[in-house]
Amino acid sequence: MDKKIAMIGVGNMGGAIAMALAKKGYSLILANRSLEKLEKFKSFDQVKITQDNRKACQEADYIFIGVKPNQADKLMNELKDVLQKPLISMVMGKSLKQMEDILHHKKLVRIMPNTPAQVGESMTAAAFSKEVTVEERQDIEEFLGVFGAYKEISEDQFSAFCALCGCMPAFIDLFIEGASDGGVYCGLKRQDTYEFLSQTLKGVALLLDETKKHPGVLKDEVTSPGGSTIKGVQELEKGAFRSLVSQAVITSAKNS
Ligand SMILES: NC(=O)c1ccc[n+]([C@@H]2O[C@H](COP(=O)([O-])OP(=O)(O)OC[C@H]3O[C@@H](n4cnc5c(N)ncnc54)[C@H](OP(=O)(O)O)[C@@H]3O)[C@@H](O)[C@H]2O)c1
Repeated sequence: MDKKIAMIGVGNMGGAIAMALAKKGYSLILANRSLEKLEKFKSFDQVKITQDNRKACQEADYIFIGVKPNQADKLMNELKDVLQKPLISMVMGKSLKQMEDILHHKKLVRIMPNTPAQVGESMTAAAFSKEVTVEERQDIEEFLGVFGAYKEISEDQFSAFCALCGCMPAFIDLFIEGASDGGVYCGLKRQDTYEFLSQTLKGVALLLDETKKHPGVLKDEVTSPGGSTIKGVQELEKGAFRSLVSQAVITSAKNS
């Protein structure tokens, strides 16, 4: 593709997305407040780095915004009189309407990636303003596909999505910590438990994805009468496991 993509705010998430795009050979212009975070992009011939946000905005065909929510208004005010191309914001909690009010610009996309973007496996949600053309949407969908899967959702679903996919990696990491402790207690090496668990989680995710079976059915298939799995399930349910996970999602959604 001959289109140039700007990323303004190249921190954890913006940096992960920029790196995925750079590795695929996309032409980028990256702007960040501090220069240190841009150093690692110097080895890519097709990537320009700058501290001039307005220049990055003017040179690009598509502009990603990767700053923190409390930094977004200041940046948007700085860009509003040079912005002409579609702007794609990953700023949590910032609606299309709020962006339009600041920017006086209508070609807007709101996205919510998650941390597996660092390994090209994000689950990203996107909402497009109606002024984004079909061709622009195709380009943007192509970019989103570079760092994982994506699905269009309505804006009123963003809080729930944020909890389910943005917060979930931390919930799953807690689960892994607990499972690993159990494995170590039973004699396994710590590092081995992480290897076993990450492969098991990948496998479970693929099984769910490919078979489309209800998770309860998949669980029933591995619980034999009086066996070790049902005894472990019983322990989890003593702690109201499913209800606890469900409540964690609801609480996170209310606070997203
Ligand atoms: N991390 C996640 O899991 C995640 C998931 C989904 C969405 N998001 C969203 O992604 C956004 C970024 O989050 P993050 O965790 O990546 O934050 P971060 O690591 O703090 O990155 C923000 C970056 O923006 C830069 N910056 C701030 N103001 C700037 C300005 N005026 N001009 C140019 N650069 C500026 C910062 O530069 P300095 O180097 O000077 O600090 C920093 O590198 C947030 O809005 C968040 O809601 C994050």
